[in-house]
Amino acid sequence: MLIRPRRNRKSEQVRNMVRENKVTADDLIMPLFICEGDGVRDQIPSLPMAYRYSLDTLVKEVADCLQLGIKSFILFPKIKDTHKDKTGSYALYPNNFYHECARKLKSEFEDIVLISDVALDPYNIDGHDGIVRDGVIQNDETLDVLSQMAVEQAKAGFDIIGPSDMMDGRVEALRAALDVNGFQDVSIMSYTAKYASAFYGPFRDALGSAPVEADDVPMDKKTYQMDPANAQEALLEAELDTMEGADFLMIKPAVHYMDIIRRIKENSFLPITAYHVSGECAMLWAACEKGWLDYDIAMPETLLSIKRAGADLIITYYAKAFMEMSIKE
Ligand code: PBG
Repeated sequence: MLIRPRRNRKSEQVRNMVRENKVTADDLIMPLFICEGDGVRDQIPSLPMAYRYSLDTLVKEVADCLQLGIKSFILFPKIKDTHKDKTGSYALYPNNFYHECARKLKSEFEDIVLISDVALDPYNIDGHDGIVRDGVIQNDETLDVLSQMAVEQAKAGFDIIGPSDMMDGRVEALRAALDVNGFQDVSIMSYTAKYASAFYGPFRDALGSAPVEADDVPMDKKTYQMDPANAQEALLEAELDTMEGADFLMIKPAVHYMDIIRRIKENSFLPITAYHVSGECAMLWAACEKGWLDYDIAMPETLLSIKRAGADLIITYYAKAFMEMSIKE
């Protein structure tokens, strides 16, 4: 036999020499759920590795992550029902607790990177990413609100704005609004190929942001998020976001859409982020808890697979646990 691939697998040392991919702290983005209050650290029942933090506990959690080498964080707010209205106006208050958290984190920690979420679903009574009228999620009207939202977030100190709404033309609208307001250096990480997926369930539990049962409110997001059957269309979205000025492209979910990660990676010069979403993290957790999978092996293998598929950056609820594990080794 001339060629024996097993020779390169013969020992841990040799395997380390030929390893093609590695997940490091620089690749990881930690998502954090935040809420009003004091001393809050509520575990999310359908996403047990994640918690909702109030500002004080958030600061501590971020400090712990920084210790582990994680520098970037994406923040998602749980908004009280009493703050919700038809247009999500709470999102625009300069002193809402989301902006306060960003201000506090940026003043407390010098070298963190804060990523925002731009979409209306946590803020509006309909639980949709855009303004709903006559049963339709309004595209162009929503762009105005999202643009103002991005500017307020930039003022609060977010380094990267993360539009997750899937309205057409939003990257261009946000870029223009940011530039006009003097935020040329604030980046945009666009949820480029975001699918209408079942795997966002635990996230919506965490924020209470699911579409609300009412007359004239669609119960799904299929008129704006992508059809899971489509791959070619993801390249169109990538092309548009690139031309509109996005700095990062995102694919979401990650594990079930690794072909999309690979295709966009091969067709773009921009850094690619994959969002290992709540449902994907939860199902892995549940199988490990049942003893059907070995957490210590399956969890890091999952993150590595996302990286190997072509993701430069991974948003995952396991970011902290992964770093704890790799530092121990
Ligand atoms: C909403 C938003 C969602 C997620 C991030 N931003 C849910 C949705 O579109 O309904 C999901 C993230 C996850 O499941 O972890 N703009």
